[in-house]
Amino acid sequence: MLVKNISIKNFRNYSVAKTDFSPNLNVLVGENAVGKTNMLEAIYLAGLGRSPRTSKEKELVKNGEERALVYITIEKKFRSHKIEIQIDNQSKKKVFLDGIPVLRMGELLGVLNVVYFSPDEMKLVKEAPENRRRFLDISLSQQQRVYFFALSKYNKVLKQRNNLLKTSFGKEGLDEMLDIWDVQLAENGAVIIEKRIEYIEKLKKSAEKIHYKMSEGKEMLELEYDTDTLVGKDEEIAACLLKNLKKTREKDKKLLYTTIGPHRDDMKIIINGTDVRKFASQGQQRTTALALKLGEMELFKEETGELPVLILDDVLSELDESRQRLLLESTADAQILLSCTEYNLKNPANVIRIVNGTIVE
Ligand SMILES: Nc1ncnc2c1ncn2[C@@H]1O[C@H](COP(=O)(O)OP(=O)(O)OP(=O)(O)O)[C@@H](O)[C@H]1O
Ligand SMILES: [Mg+2]
Repeated sequence: MLVKNISIKNFRNYSVAKTDFSPNLNVLVGENAVGKTNMLEAIYLAGLGRSPRTSKEKELVKNGEERALVYITIEKKFRSHKIEIQIDNQSKKKVFLDGIPVLRMGELLGVLNVVYFSPDEMKLVKEAPENRRRFLDISLSQQQRVYFFALSKYNKVLKQRNNLLKTSFGKEGLDEMLDIWDVQLAENGAVIIEKRIEYIEKLKKSAEKIHYKMSEGKEMLELEYDTDTLVGKDEEIAACLLKNLKKTREKDKKLLYTTIGPHRDDMKIIINGTDVRKFASQGQQRTTALALKLGEMELFKEETGELPVLILDDVLSELDESRQRLLLESTADAQILLSCTEYNLKNPANVIRIVNGTIVE
């Protein structure tokens, strides 16, 4: 799938800007702070319905303006779509798909699939577990709507359960209320865990090959789902989660929050038999992050039949030449939107030059 063109108004540091993209490599070039990441952010926003860098959406509206607009045309195998997003300076957001209002974000997901890679993602291996959970959640939410809906429901119930733990400490009837929330938590949590395990199993297979090649046969990458929930694996995941929620209830009541469940899980990253989440060297971190992202691209293709749009924000400078080459070679079939301050690779590209919020060529 590809982004054919974009038109933005009062978005971040842009007043008005529009450009077409080529189906292959597109390079946004410009000095620091001219608006390269902002442009990529607008595309991510059209795919995921949210920004990769902020949850305060009014930040996306150009200072002093009332409303930011983003129009994007995308082309998929069998049809094309128009996505329009309006955000006002009260953070109110409206999304339209082919002119029709999108009322639930789940309806937008999967229309424009993106894989986003920035220096922050480069740190995925050593970051806190929530970053690896987000990596799984974003990928799975785009690929499978059931996942997104289960995750949204789970987060809502979790918030209510935690609220209850905080506000009803020692009150009568707390256990009966928790009984109700726990059933819903277990039902939706089980979908999340099951899909994550399945996904990691597949991701391991594709990322392992890429990692092996990049490390010149020196490193064997393995991935595993890391959870406290599945003790007593002979049962169904939902039953198991429910049982363990009951088991930890007294602890939860003391700590005033829910201590187990997929919101606490992680992905183990193992190289040559050792869990490297704390110990990976800089090089290993880069190789692994790259292998995970490239593996993710492959899984999108398997799951949806189409390659997603690959957004590479400022990552080339973090990679040595051989990794740069491998990255661009192995994704040559996908549309790539890449940003950098100077482009000096030989790969032919559609170069889009940006100067202070204006596209100059
Ligand atoms: N809401 C806003 N209104 C006006 N300007 C904004 C807004 N949000 C961000 N900016 C400006 O956008 C600029 C940053 O743009 P961006 O992050 O896209 O830079 P960049 O080209 O990616 O730079 P770098 O190469 O350093 O990553 C900053 O000058 C910032 O002040
Ligand atoms: Mg940037």
